[in-house]
Amino acid sequence: MAETEASPLKHFVVAKKKISAIFEQLLQYITDGAIFVAEIQENEELQQISEKIQEVLKSQGENKSQSADINEYKQKILGISGVLARRHMKVAFFGRTSNGKSTVINAMLQDRVLPSGIGHTTNCFLSVEGTDGDKAFLMTEGSDERKSVKTVNQLAHALHMDEHLDTGCLVQVFWPKMKCEVLGDDLVLMDSPGTDVTMELDSWIDKFCQDADVFVLVANSESTLMNTEKHFFYKVKEHFSKPNIFILNNRWDASASEPEYMEDVRRQHMDRCVNFLVEELKAADYQEAQNRIFFVSAKEVLNTRMHKAQGMPEGGGALAEGFQARLQEFQSFEQAFKECISQSAVKTKFEQHTFTAKQIMKNVKAIMDAINFAAIDKRKQSEDMKENILSNLNYVHNQINRLTEDVKNKILKISEEVETKVSNAITDEICHLFVLVEEFHGDFYPSPQVLKAYKTEINRHIEEGMGRNLTDRCSNAIHATVQSAKLDMMESLKPLLPPTAWSQVHTLIPCRNFDLNYSLNCSHLCADFQEDIEFKFSLGWTSLVNRFLGPHNARKALQISQTLASTPITTSLPSLPPENATQEELVVSVVTGLASLTSRTSMTVIIVGGVVWRTVGWRAIALSVSLYGLVYLYERLTWTTKAKERALKRQLVDYLTEKLQMIVGFTSANCSHQVQQDLAATFAQLCQQVDLTEKNLEKEIERLSLVIEQLHDLEKQSHTLRSKSAGLEAELDNFIKQYL
Ligand code: GTP
Ligand code: MG
Repeated sequence: MAETEASPLKHFVVAKKKISAIFEQLLQYITDGAIFVAEIQENEELQQISEKIQEVLKSQGENKSQSADINEYKQKILGISGVLARRHMKVAFFGRTSNGKSTVINAMLQDRVLPSGIGHTTNCFLSVEGTDGDKAFLMTEGSDERKSVKTVNQLAHALHMDEHLDTGCLVQVFWPKMKCEVLGDDLVLMDSPGTDVTMELDSWIDKFCQDADVFVLVANSESTLMNTEKHFFYKVKEHFSKPNIFILNNRWDASASEPEYMEDVRRQHMDRCVNFLVEELKAADYQEAQNRIFFVSAKEVLNTRMHKAQGMPEGGGALAEGFQARLQEFQSFEQAFKECISQSAVKTKFEQHTFTAKQIMKNVKAIMDAINFAAIDKRKQSEDMKENILSNLNYVHNQINRLTEDVKNKILKISEEVETKVSNAITDEICHLFVLVEEFHGDFYPSPQVLKAYKTEINRHIEEGMGRNLTDRCSNAIHATVQSAKLDMMESLKPLLPPTAWSQVHTLIPCRNFDLNYSLNCSHLCADFQEDIEFKFSLGWTSLVNRFLGPHNARKALQISQTLASTPITTSLPSLPPENATQEELVVSVVTGLASLTSRTSMTVIIVGGVVWRTVGWRAIALSVSLYGLVYLYERLTWTTKAKERALKRQLVDYLTEKLQMIVGFTSANCSHQVQQDLAATFAQLCQQVDLTEKNLEKEIERLSLVIEQLHDLEKQSHTLRSKSAGLEAELDNFIKQYL
């Protein structure tokens, strides 16, 4: 028996399972893909790849100005998955009142599920579908309440009691799948009120038949096809291009009472029905139509099946002639119907979605391809960039080492030059010190307070003057040298720095003159200076000794002579100095000798004076003495304040010359040190910039390494996702080949 064999409905059930499983994979895949794309789009480093994705999405957008979104694809797949889960095969039964629609459905369900009876029984649309539970229930439109139903009578009662129900309403009857095999195979059977009880055929079709896979016209074989029935199917034809229509000529058991006309009547019905389907409706070709018209007795089938279910013999009860043939024809109808509905439902319910999914997979594959290519491109670019930066870093590293050595030597050379220059300039200035001193005009008075102030002023004057002169002589030239050295340093370091840092480098070299500090602290130098502005007769004893022996030796000699004058006279001549005595000792011994000789011979002088007196005469002596006196007088008179100032200035010049000569080396070294410091500081600052550049390059290399790693990952992931999408596409193709 057909019922025991594998039902053709399984075709739909298996296809649904398969496509649902594929969509589950698609959903997982597209979720992963969407996350992958979102991660790329969020990563600023991968902007180039985001742009490529955007380009591809834009080309995939239905409206070219609006780009598609991978999340939209996900939503679509999600939506379709939901729809697929709810997909079932639907057969709708139509026909005039009392033709036996409800009885046919009951016969197919092998139980009295729906109420049937004489007269107008079904007053609204009734869909019967399976429930996994073991209790039947019904739900009315607009309410989620599950009303439990135990018997058909209860159902009929419930339907009749609900005054809100009219012909345009739907009541869903959920019948346990375990009680009825076809319900377990995702089949929904839709019963309707008689087509003759309504004028709202269009709204019926819109509301209840949009997803119907098969229409069954339950006709009454005791009469002919009526216009109300035909009219309904004309309307159906307007909504469906090629509806699957079966015609059941029910109540064929009645023909048993008139067997002699049976064949004629059958032929007549057949012709009319075929003509209706082929010629009038154009819903089938001739062959197809013949295979879709059956002569059955639903009532007999239902009774037989119910008997069987209750364990009673199949042929139990009074059965009219030809029952077996009619039963078989009903089974043939069921078989043909099941084949038709499952084939048709698989096509209409899965085809569109499968192709949509295929298109989505194709699009996602294109996105993955674009990501893969862009990632490879960018990785290569990044690797080249990293390579360049690495060699740049090496170059900077080597160059800076070499330059540091060069600059060190150069700074050394410049500082030596500066030292020589400053040393020469100071020596020159020392030679012209007297001019500076001469230039000074201050209040001079030989009192200690005025002298102190005078000396402070003149020291300041000398310091300022010398400083000014040295600045004029050296500073400009040194500044130029320093500046040009700095510029040289900058120019040689510039190629090691990025152009963006150039402007910063320029700010490191100030335009102002290099301020060389000579540190000629005259007041400090002259702290020990002690002027001697007491009157000294140029032909006096002290002056003469001074003139002949020099100030230093004279001082010693005078001290000794004073000592000698106070010691008794010895007659012996001073012993001759030993050969190895120093010059100083020699001078001292000569002076000592002279002094002792002088004092010892003072008596001799008087004697000699007496002799001269006698030979030259007193006149010449008087003349000499008066001349001597006159000179003394002249000098005494010309020893004015001016002369004292001049003497002080002269002494100061001598003193300072000596002191300055002592610090020439130190000062010039100090200046050279300043230059060295300044140049070294500038070079250090420039090196800092290079350091910064090196650090930036290292950072950039680190960043690029990370990017390259990311891109490698991206390549791998996009490749994997691409292969997956190709795999899923192949699965969809398989499904199409197998089921569509
Ligand atoms: P409405 O719901 O009112 O539109 O009618 P319907 O098309 O559902 O008809 P229903 O199944 O209620 O059947 C009407 C009457 O016809 C019932 O009394 C059935 O027992 C009877 N009937 C149904 N099929 C057959 C059949 O094949 N042979 C005979 N003799 N009677 C049948
Ligand atoms: Mg009915």
